[in-house]
Amino acid sequence: MNVRKDSIVDQEDFKRAIFDVDDTSYLTHNYHPWAAKFIPQIPRYFIEKLTRKGDTVYDPFCGSGTTLVEALLLGRNAFGNDINYIAALASKAKATPLSPAQLGRVVAWKKGVLSLQGRWLGGQNHGEHGAGGRPAGDYTGEIRFDNKFHWFDKDVLVLLMQIKRSIEAVDDPAVKTFLLAAFSSIVVRVSRQESETRYAAIDKKIEIRDVFDIFLKKLDDMIERMRQFAAAVDGGSRAEVCQADTREMPSIPDASVQLVLTSPPYANTYDYYLYHKLRMFLLGYDVYNVRVNEIGSRNRYSSQKQDIGTFVDDMATCFGVFRRVIKADGHVVVVIGDSIVAKKHHSGLALIEEVASRAGFAILQAFSYKLDDISKLFNKRFRQKGKEEWVIILSKQSQNEP
Ligand SMILES: C[S@@+](CC[C@H](N)C(=O)[O-])C[C@H]1O[C@@H](n2cnc3c(N)ncnc32)[C@H](O)[C@@H]1O
Repeated sequence: MNVRKDSIVDQEDFKRAIFDVDDTSYLTHNYHPWAAKFIPQIPRYFIEKLTRKGDTVYDPFCGSGTTLVEALLLGRNAFGNDINYIAALASKAKATPLSPAQLGRVVAWKKGVLSLQGRWLGGQNHGEHGAGGRPAGDYTGEIRFDNKFHWFDKDVLVLLMQIKRSIEAVDDPAVKTFLLAAFSSIVVRVSRQESETRYAAIDKKIEIRDVFDIFLKKLDDMIERMRQFAAAVDGGSRAEVCQADTREMPSIPDASVQLVLTSPPYANTYDYYLYHKLRMFLLGYDVYNVRVNEIGSRNRYSSQKQDIGTFVDDMATCFGVFRRVIKADGHVVVVIGDSIVAKKHHSGLALIEEVASRAGFAILQAFSYKLDDISKLFNKRFRQKGKEEWVIILSKQSQNEP
């Protein structure tokens, strides 16, 4: 690791907290796939260091909600937003404790899926269709996506839309969110999309019985984890989550946040809108809005050939929001990797230095580790030779500072 200053955290202590860990997907953390998730030990470390019980922690690029879950487990309140609807859905499901009565509603709803399973598989076994066998009801016409049968087997898509319809009939909004997140979590697996970070179609030979098995197993696991999570959350703590562009984030009161803790998109590294496109189409979300407003996407820097300056502009706008919402003694902690745009290497630290000076923040401490050295922090895609990942701690610059 590289040292600049050592005023806030002891790096050895930090390294021990994040490298010597076994379980990085406890409780609700494993609910939904998301590329470049934090391991929960990173937000936990800074929340414990820089906030107290009852404080508010804000993650403006909350992805799948890792920060929010950790904030609740530590008795803090949390606020999170993400431009991606699937991120907002997953975060909300992960960070909203359900009561035993609500979990009872999930279990009751599941009985409907079991009955659907009996009809589909009974119908299949006897080669039947329609009444008495495979359930009638083809809602695939509701999906506004031309290539849907390129990405999904026809029967699988019919079944998915039947499950989705049944979720939409649920009244309790938190239960509905929980079920939609369970549904969303399996979509890529039962589609022909190659993987969570590759948007190419391959033949996976997914059968109807596989869809039921995968979905029901997921549901059971989520129910059990929710029981444990709800029991572990301090009753008074709340997480608020919304789908929103951080550059326009309006609804957090001024000077109300103790800690902004986030891993922003790394320039030219991912296309979140693309990897979650099938999920968004099935759930009826506005893919275009996510595509055009996603900061840092490969689409912007590799396809549209935008200049790295646009990334700095976007982040400076976001930091303007942080400046408004954090308290005078609050902190911002950013975990950001280096990036390569137009074959030029950009240090994550240099980018944030520029952003900070434009938005009125001072860097209190920064250190890095090599992305090819680490095995557990993020997934393989981030372990690239020569790139480093930076932990940067900032505070608002006072009016008197230069
Ligand atoms: C590195 S990921 C965060 C992962 C998160 N820490 C987790 O543990 O799941 C960066 C996130 O920034 C989001 N993002 C990109 N542009 C955004 C924007 N304009 N406003 C809000 N979120 C945005 C992406 O959708 C992505 O989820």
